[in-house]
Amino acid sequence: MIYADNAATTKMSEAAIHTMITTAQETWGNPSSLYQTGQKAKEVLEEARSRVAEAIGAEPREILFTSGGSEADNQAIRSAAELGKKRGKTHIISTAFEHHAVLHTLKKLESEGYTVTLLPVHENGLVVPEEVAAAITDETCLVTVMFANNEIGTIQPIREIGAICREKGVLFHTDAVQAIGHVPVDVVLDNIDLLSASAHKFHGPKGIGFLYARKGIRLTNLIEGGAQERGRRAGTENVPGIAAMTTALTDACKAMEANAEKLTVLRDKLIAGLSEIPHSALNGDAAKRLPSNVNFCFEGIEGESLLLLLDDRGIQASSGSACTSGSLDPSHVLLAIGRVHDVAHGSLRLSIGEDTSEDDVAYIIKSVKEVVEYLRGFSPVWRDLCAGKASFIL
Ligand SMILES: Cc1ncc(COP(=O)(O)O)c(C=O)c1O
Repeated sequence: MIYADNAATTKMSEAAIHTMITTAQETWGNPSSLYQTGQKAKEVLEEARSRVAEAIGAEPREILFTSGGSEADNQAIRSAAELGKKRGKTHIISTAFEHHAVLHTLKKLESEGYTVTLLPVHENGLVVPEEVAAAITDETCLVTVMFANNEIGTIQPIREIGAICREKGVLFHTDAVQAIGHVPVDVVLDNIDLLSASAHKFHGPKGIGFLYARKGIRLTNLIEGGAQERGRRAGTENVPGIAAMTTALTDACKAMEANAEKLTVLRDKLIAGLSEIPHSALNGDAAKRLPSNVNFCFEGIEGESLLLLLDDRGIQASSGSACTSGSLDPSHVLLAIGRVHDVAHGSLRLSIGEDTSEDDVAYIIKSVKEVVEYLRGFSPVWRDLCAGKASFIL
C-alpha cells in the first residue's frame, strides 16, 4: 500500500505514540491540581509549551493549546475581529482559497456585520503582496492568508504580507496547518501576529493543535469555563496529546531540511512523469509549493473514479480536500485558481511523505497513466473532445 494523502492526515510517529502512552500512564494528573501528581502534569505541559514556542520562534506564553487547526483558526479570526470592532474597524481581508475553517468563520462574521474582501488567487496559486496592500483600508482590522494551501500546496509570500500588515497597523493571521513541521516558520521573522497549527499534519495525534498569539493580543474565548490556558481556553488540558504533539514537532523540525530535500526530488519526478499525460496540467506553481505536494488536473475524467481505481492498485490519494471529497462540488481551491468546473472535477492530489520511495513514485506514475487512459476510453466527455465537438482546455 502506498499512502499518498499526507495532507489529509499523517500516521503518528512511533516516538509520538510512545510519548502519548507514557504521559498517559505516568503523568495523568490534572495540571490545575496543587498536589504533586497535578504539578508533575503541569511541568510536562509547560515544558511542551516552551518547546512548541521554540519551534516557531515564539515565547511560551504566546502559545495556547487547542483541539486542532479549526479551533485555532476560529479563535484567531474571531479575536482579531472583536478587537477591530472595539476600534470601529470591521473589514477583514482573506483569500478565496482558504480552508473552510477560515472561510466559514468569515461567512459567520459577515452575517454579524463585518465586511470581508476575498482576494483572488492567481493561476499559479499565489497571493500577490501588493494586492493585499491595495485592499487594506482604514477600516481593516485583520488580514488572514494561509501559509501553504492544503490542496495545491502553494507557499504564500507570508513574510512580505506580514511586513505590509505591520506597516499599516493591521493584525495578520496565517493558517499554517500545512506548513508547520514541513517548511521553516518563524513568527518574528515572518511578521506573524496569529498562527494556527494542527498536530496530525506532522505525525502527531488528531484533536490537538495550537494557536500562537503575539503577546499583547487579547484573545476572545470560544470555550467558557475554568481558567486553563491563562483564562483563554477553558477545559482540562489534553496533556498526553500535547506532549505527543511536542515530540512530533521537535522531530519534524530536526528532520525538516533532509526530508524537504528528499521529497522535493520525488515531487519533481512525479510532476515530470504525470506531465507526460496528454491534456493534463499541474495545479499551482511548480517551485513555490510544499515539497510533498503534487496536484494535477486531467481533462475528460472524473477525479472520484480515478481515486477508486488507484485505491484498487494500492495507492491512496485524494481529489480536493478530505473535507470536500464526498461532495460533488468541484474544489473551491481549483475554481479559485481559474480551473473551469469540468477540468476541476478531474483532479488528483498526491501528498507524499518521508516513507515514500523512488519505486513508489515510479509505480504511481505508471498507474496514473494507465488509469487515466482507461477512464478516458469510455468517457463521453473525452469522446466529444477527441471528435472536436468540444474544445480542449488543457
Ligand atoms: C489548511 C488547513 N487548515 C485547517 C485545517 C483543520 O485542522 P484540524 O483538522 O486540526 O481541525 C486543515 C486540515 O485539513 C488544513 O489543511
